[in-house]
Amino acid sequence: MSHSVLEAQSVKLLKGVTIWFTGLPSSGKSTIANILGRAFRKWGVKSEILDGDVVRTNLSKGLGFSKEDRDINIKRIGFVCHLLTRNDVVAIAAAISPYREIRDFNRRMIGNFMEVYVQTSLEECEKRDVKGLYQKARSGAIKGFTGVDDPYETPLAPEAVCETEKETPEESASKVIARMEELGYLQIQEAAV
Ligand code: ADX
Repeated sequence: MSHSVLEAQSVKLLKGVTIWFTGLPSSGKSTIANILGRAFRKWGVKSEILDGDVVRTNLSKGLGFSKEDRDINIKRIGFVCHLLTRNDVVAIAAAISPYREIRDFNRRMIGNFMEVYVQTSLEECEKRDVKGLYQKARSGAIKGFTGVDDPYETPLAPEAVCETEKETPEESASKVIARMEELGYLQIQEAAV
């Protein structure tokens, strides 16, 4: 699959939307979100990235990884996405968001909502182990780590699926943009040859 959509000269945003990336740790959520953010900046489309790791250093500082704390974290991110989306900004969330019910809660609150499942096998995520946390979880140094000894509920009807073991991050980002166009959130005005 080509990623020529990323090279489009101009893109027009038709309405605000939340692009909600969900997936296991090290699945590639932040990587794809950052590529999208760069593309929107290039096109002059207002967007904001809400990355779980970053949010946990400010808005959700002090929260841990119990189900209750994860739910609060995801609802906070959802609330900010809601505010941005209704002001015609593209809100890009990248958080594990392991529980279906809370993702669906955000979907209902926000309305213009695209769930994007970053589908990467546990084996591959463990191999990538970007922050060395799977290793710590396997050794018992961390308890309740998503995918190891804490649940991850896969999306049942996501608007898009990024198959990161088959696609490059750019191809995944392009897929999301193409899907945004299909769903009427934006118009790709001109593509480079
Ligand atoms: S969520 O479950 O509330 O959606 P979030 O995406 O904000 O999680 O944060 C996940 C990040 O926290 C991971 O990328 C990892 O760096 C770190 N982390 C620390 N402990 C855990 C844990 N027990 N489970 C998952 N991630 C953890």
